[in-house]
Amino acid sequence: MMLQVCRYLVLFLLATDHLSAGETVDQSRLVFPTPDRPVAPIVSSAYSDEKTRDSNGEARRVMDRIGIRPGLRVADIGAGDGYYTVRLARRLGPTSTIYAEDVKSDYLKRLEARLEKEGIRGVRWVLGLPNDPKLMLNSIDVALLSHVYHEIENPYEFFYRLRPALAADARVAIIDVDRPTRDHGTPPALLRCEFEALGYRQIDFVSLDPADGYLAIFVPPPELPPVSLIRPCVSNAIGDIQGRKRK
Ligand SMILES: C[S@@+](CC[C@H](N)C(=O)[O-])C[C@H]1O[C@@H](n2cnc3c(N)ncnc32)[C@H](O)[C@@H]1O
Repeated sequence: MMLQVCRYLVLFLLATDHLSAGETVDQSRLVFPTPDRPVAPIVSSAYSDEKTRDSNGEARRVMDRIGIRPGLRVADIGAGDGYYTVRLARRLGPTSTIYAEDVKSDYLKRLEARLEKEGIRGVRWVLGLPNDPKLMLNSIDVALLSHVYHEIENPYEFFYRLRPALAADARVAIIDVDRPTRDHGTPPALLRCEFEALGYRQIDFVSLDPADGYLAIFVPPPELPPVSLIRPCVSNAIGDIQGRKRK
């Protein structure tokens, strides 16, 4: 009888994603490797002025390239002032599912006021934690992070904890500039290496010129590796990859 109860408990935990196959650890106790490079501090709620970004066609080109279309559920992670939230909402319309997520509640409050002023309704708010975006299970088709990646304290933990929120065929879109993380950018090789350490696969990469930076798109792994097997990327001071050597 006791054995049967334990079996059902394990099956329940697996079904609710509290336990990944082969792992019997309490999720909150998982210890992730730390990134081997600087993490930039949060200094602003926007990358640069929206007029310049629009005159360079940034959001339009990014949304076209990702294939943003009605019906997709999109999370603007690290939404800040909402450069992407606003443009996603305009493209997808009032019946869409858009999450504006950030770790700063004052940024989210300001964005809420902005959307109200601009007559945009239906955006859902999510206050995340630095290493957990706190999005619901199977709720997202596209997770978009614009000029956020280099500010995430621990990308291994963050994208591990994002994985359960990603639906089948979901994609993760990263917009950033090719410069060292300490200078608020992410070298593309470093980005790819850190995602691959979790089993995510890069499926697209394009320069956004004349807008700043690049767009990189990843698909998540069918199953995450056990945390103990995540091998962090080793980089030099500017974030260039030196190979994966750390155990
Ligand atoms: C430079 S702003 C970019 C804002 C906006 N995405 C854009 O493209 O203009 C970076 C934003 O990421 C947020 N951020 C930093 N670390 C984060 C994390 N771990 N999870 C969610 N948001 C984060 C910051 O609070 C800030 O709003």
